[in-house]
Amino acid sequence: MSSIVIAIDGPAASGKGTVSKAISEKLQFHYLDTGKLYRAIGAKYLEGDEPISAAKNLKYEDLDNYDLQKPEIAKAASEIAAIQEVRASLLNFQRNFSRKMPGAVLDGRDIGTIVCPSAKIKIFLTASLEARAYRRYLELQKTNSELKLEFIIDQIKERDERDQTRSSSPMVAASDAKIFDTSELSINEAIDEVYFYIQARIN
Ligand code: DC
Repeated sequence: MSSIVIAIDGPAASGKGTVSKAISEKLQFHYLDTGKLYRAIGAKYLEGDEPISAAKNLKYEDLDNYDLQKPEIAKAASEIAAIQEVRASLLNFQRNFSRKMPGAVLDGRDIGTIVCPSAKIKIFLTASLEARAYRRYLELQKTNSELKLEFIIDQIKERDERDQTRSSSPMVAASDAKIFDTSELSINEAIDEVYFYIQARIN
């Protein structure tokens, strides 16, 4: 018997992390936030490490060793994520994770297209730039009240462009993914909608 893989992709601050975690808890599936892999390498790169060797030597502990939510780490993550060799080094780790029984939820940018193209369920979560930036702003305000909304809008816009236009595994909805726009939804509404869709496909 093989595991049930749920691929949840989407741009920064689309709500995919919160939704993916909640879905994994409801289904008692394993959960991997693949953005953390790129962020941990981004953090090492900011410390002076070479990204390709940082990716090859990445350890599970590295995912908890840094304050990975920082905007400068997000930017560095998006930069190193454009390097083909970095992406290739992370493939096995992600695919092995997806085989965990009884199932696994992976969120990222290329899960439904490249990492797990045969995932049973593929979801692409999106929202307007303004809605996403405002959510990220509220979240970051808890730790840094100096950050301005305009700065966050610019950062997310720049990251979206880089993630969508890179030649290696660009962020794109898989042709067989169900697209959800969460701009007008609360986080609980988004979780309910996605969970309803998944349940109908798992049973
Ligand atoms: O999901 P996130 O914001 O934590 O991701 C940070 C960066 O990592 C994102 O801008 C692009 C990169 N990333 C990627 O290229 N592929 C993934 N599967 C996940 C993240």
